Amino acid sequence: MAQEQAVKTVKIFDTTLRDGEQSPGNSMNIEEKLRIAKQLEKLNVDVIEAGFPIASEGDFEAVKRIAQTIRGPEIAGLCRSSDKDIDRAWEALQYAGEKGRIHTFIATSDIHMKYKLKMEPGRVLESAVKAVKRAASYTPNVEFSCEDAVRTRLPFLAEVVAAVIDAGATTVNIPDTVGYTIPFEYFDIIRYLKENVANIDKAVISVHCHNDLGLSVANSIAAVQAGAGQVECTINGIGERAGNCSLEEFVMILKTRRDILPFSTNVVTEQLTPASRLLSTITGIMVQPNKAIVGGNAFAHESGIHQHGMLMEKSTYEIMTPESVGLKTSSLVLGKHSGRHAFKKRLEELGYELDDEKLNKSFERFKNLADLKKEVFDEDLDAIMTEETMRNAEKYRLEHITVTCGSFAVATATVQMEIDGVSARTAELGDGPVDATLKAIKKLTKCTGKLQTYNVGSITGGTDAQGEVTVKVAEGDRTVTGRGSSTDIIEASAKAYINALNRLYALRETQALESGSL
Ligand code: KIV
Ligand code: ZN
Repeated sequence: MAQEQAVKTVKIFDTTLRDGEQSPGNSMNIEEKLRIAKQLEKLNVDVIEAGFPIASEGDFEAVKRIAQTIRGPEIAGLCRSSDKDIDRAWEALQYAGEKGRIHTFIATSDIHMKYKLKMEPGRVLESAVKAVKRAASYTPNVEFSCEDAVRTRLPFLAEVVAAVIDAGATTVNIPDTVGYTIPFEYFDIIRYLKENVANIDKAVISVHCHNDLGLSVANSIAAVQAGAGQVECTINGIGERAGNCSLEEFVMILKTRRDILPFSTNVVTEQLTPASRLLSTITGIMVQPNKAIVGGNAFAHESGIHQHGMLMEKSTYEIMTPESVGLKTSSLVLGKHSGRHAFKKRLEELGYELDDEKLNKSFERFKNLADLKKEVFDEDLDAIMTEETMRNAEKYRLEHITVTCGSFAVATATVQMEIDGVSARTAELGDGPVDATLKAIKKLTKCTGKLQTYNVGSITGGTDAQGEVTVKVAEGDRTVTGRGSSTDIIEASAKAYINALNRLYALRETQALESGSL
């Protein structure tokens, strides 16, 4: 009789708020990070890497707030292998108590040690051990990462791993920092450590794969087969350069192929689509339609042959159900006769908890929308929530906009804005209504940022749907994303542009504060 294989639970370490947030266009404010952290709690990930506390005041505050608020998952904070970094990380993480995890790292590959660190291997080893000991003096929950592990000489990698475990690391991470490895090579690296590090069973082996060659998920699967017990990943696969291992893909591979992969995770998979959507709504970065699991087309069966098969028997073309990843067709929730109570109740069901002031503001916005649009869907509410409840105090605010355009008229936009509490108005001509509007806003705000991308989509179906505009604006080495929604796409465009300018302003202020020039 065939023996049932024991199923091993793999820990999910989510780094959306750290490695993910580090990538251009994905920066989030504290309220937004907290909202994502709450969704990660619902997803039931094992660890949330909340940020890099020494990187900025904003990062520090975000890690601290998340450590104070989130109760389910462990909360990790990243730090280099220096006393100052480690102390600062614990200052933010202490609020998570025994669930606080210090994640410290140093590079171990020859190329990084020689050119980046300018340190001999012996000194790198010493620093790693010293850092882990200092971290362990705060908490027994210490993770150590050998940055660029994949390009590290294996005997040296094994030496570092053994030494940091002796020093108190309870998780050792073997990252593919540059997304260079391929599955069988990564499998061999993890196996090598299992076979050549005497104390390896005293720690969990973690893997952290970047997607430069499109192999981050496949490499993570290979590593788990070789004995890794934790996988580091991000929602929608966001992260440095080509991104990190996509959480939803990794988790659904294990769930769907349990027949040959005897591994599971604690993730509540029905929360995957809401998590993906929330992240896109906040960052303004949409996933490509053909993205596995959470792309718009992932469960769409267009061709006649497929549709015919699906009608006969769903499993002909469906290897997992849309329900299992939390994909529901938009449910009609509210309309113009819905009251404050129903509105509040639905928001709570969607995971938003609002104080009275925010509730009043959002309810007013909902009523205005319901006057324009018969049916208000969950997606519309998400858009309202991002605009009304997750934004910091804003320098710029749109008051009014009037546009004239047509096939014969020169497009003209008159824009009135509040800037630092004072109203200002101007008009501009343009190559179309959006161009004229953005020019007027640019003139009023004297913004020097360059518009890099402009995208428009609709939040739900129907001609009365809200338009959703996403823009990317760059100024020097800063890039920000702005989002705006309205049933009028010109207004949505203005709001998105103004949102980006507010973010740019906030970023400029924080950077100036940190460099001491303010
Ligand atoms: O890619 C990497 O090596 C990292 C480490 C800091 C874990 O992000
Ligand atoms: Zn990384």
